[in-house]
Amino acid sequence: MATISQEHLRKKNPGILLKTPMLIVVFLILFGCSNPEMELGEQVFKGTCKACHAGGLNGAPIYGNKRMWAKRLPQGIPVLVEHASSGYGLMPAKGGNTNLTEQEITAAVKFMVSKVAE
Ligand code: HEC
Repeated sequence: MATISQEHLRKKNPGILLKTPMLIVVFLILFGCSNPEMELGEQVFKGTCKACHAGGLNGAPIYGNKRMWAKRLPQGIPVLVEHASSGYGLMPAKGGNTNLTEQEITAAVKFMVSKVAE
């Protein structure tokens, strides 16, 4: 099946087999899948933040839950980062992992926000 349709495409439009992978790469860049800050953020999230933000421990806004993030997002990234760094209500400073740098906290906040912002 695949061979037949690829053969068909090649005859019809020889460029398409080259263009499709390039389009995929462009989409990956646009959607941040190959963004190093997002990768760092994901690592920090999995290492520290997930403990509370995956299941909503103590009322932590759950990763990917737009409703829980809706009131927090309008504060903007800098304020969210400040709250995550210094602590906020039941959110401990740096999620309790004091080794994390400002850059790592920022990346983790952006990683969480990227899933709910739109
Ligand atoms: C020990 C549990 C715990 C860990 C670990 C944790 N959080 Fe939280 N986080 C919370 C709770 C609870 C809240 C809700 C605080 C409130 O609104 O009173 C919260 C809220 C937040 C908010 C929203 C703050 C606001 O202004 O509304 C951000 C952003 C955040 N956390 C980022 C992070 C990041 C980044 C990490 C990892 C570095 C992390 N958290 C790790 C418990 C945690």
